[in-house]
Amino acid sequence: MALLSRRTFLKGSAVAGASFALGAGFAARPGIASPVTLKAQFTEAAIASDGVTPKLMTYGLGDEAARGMPPILRMKKGESFAARLINGLDEPTTVHWHGLRIVNAMDGVPEMTQPYVYPGDGFDYAFTPPDAGTFWYHPHCNTLTQMGHGMTGVIVVENPDDPIFDAEVVLNLRDWRLGAGGAFIAPFKPRDAAKGGTYGTVRTANWQQEPVYEAPTGGLVRVRIAATDVTRIYTIGIEDGQGLVVALDGNAVAAPFPLDRLDFGPGQRVELIVRMPDEEGKSIKLGNFRGSSPWTITTLKAVGGSSLKRSLQDVKPLSANQIAEADLSTAERIPLDFTATAEHKATESICGSLGYTFWAINKVPWQGDTPDPVAPLSDLKLGKSYVLQVRNRTPHAHPIHLHGLSFRVLSSNKRTFLPPPTDTILLQPDEQAELGLVADNLGDWLLHCHIIEHQKTGMSAYFRVV
Ligand code: C2O
Ligand code: CU
Repeated sequence: MALLSRRTFLKGSAVAGASFALGAGFAARPGIASPVTLKAQFTEAAIASDGVTPKLMTYGLGDEAARGMPPILRMKKGESFAARLINGLDEPTTVHWHGLRIVNAMDGVPEMTQPYVYPGDGFDYAFTPPDAGTFWYHPHCNTLTQMGHGMTGVIVVENPDDPIFDAEVVLNLRDWRLGAGGAFIAPFKPRDAAKGGTYGTVRTANWQQEPVYEAPTGGLVRVRIAATDVTRIYTIGIEDGQGLVVALDGNAVAAPFPLDRLDFGPGQRVELIVRMPDEEGKSIKLGNFRGSSPWTITTLKAVGGSSLKRSLQDVKPLSANQIAEADLSTAERIPLDFTATAEHKATESICGSLGYTFWAINKVPWQGDTPDPVAPLSDLKLGKSYVLQVRNRTPHAHPIHLHGLSFRVLSSNKRTFLPPPTDTILLQPDEQAELGLVADNLGDWLLHCHIIEHQKTGMSAYFRVV
């Protein structure tokens, strides 16, 4: 058996070029899945039709240079997963695992749950996803730039008792702010940040404009969709075909229902079962129907001879994740007001500041990621139930995301359909809703709007579970 000489070891670490502070520390922890290397890096790709965009940011697996979109990470419910982040960018970064209810130290929020990962450094993430479904991952540092330039990837957490469908299509929906020749333009306009947010100029699914996917004729396709754009709210619909909504934000709907028009905002996910046409070569389209001119997100084309003749009527509800239900008789009520705030300059931060403050939660605009953040919204007691009384006191929709905990929409003045448990609620203009949760995960958990311009100009806060 060869012994590892100190010299080899040093050489090895120099090659990795990384120091691993405060992460999961794989070497010392038996029983953890062997880690994948997730390298944050620059790349280039043809996103616009008129040129190659340089300086895209993405993640790649292993040592090979990444080509294109961040990989879909597949995990298994209840099984450990480990990833070593290596920072190949020229600025600090971290990874947040959006929607996964994992331990606080793995949540990826700089200053709050882990140190910044500087260029050339690394961080070891290891956790066990407790829920099956569609989730996603992204940095939690300088996010308007890092996410805006490409760092948004989809996570599929598989369930051993998932039904088998004839095909699966995973769609990572996002836009890009590109100008002539495919070069990046200014990431936002302050006057839009103070309203609904600044839209991209090029719309993509999986980094392609209107991609076409093939699926068996007459088959059932599981379509997992994640809205990873920094701004856009989608209203999805289907043309020339039928589909059922089976899961929202990683959680099964109790009774699958036909897809008509469905709103979902940045951070949210939708899972559909779509029935392919019976005739080979025919296709159906998923489109965005928000606004006055609908457009195609993707086309699914029937291939492979005679129809499989599947029926949407045979689709059963997916199995539910185990999420504790709030005890409303003992729950403490916490009012949360989402408002605009007097405009003023924001403080600088290592993870970037947009230079403005436009928004606030309970009248307090977030000051950015600092070693000394504002006080938590409230200290929650481990295992206790709470009802968040959220009020959107603005004329804009806000996808409000809570880290580390899932909640149920108990009531709302704007909706009749109450979705399954979620980590992100798309609060409609002037919506008032009650959100029930059990504080069953220790630590500091951010709550913020997932329109990144809103998050970065004040609409952020956190709970502390003790
Ligand atoms: Cu998807 Cu705080 O993030
Ligand atoms: Cu918002």
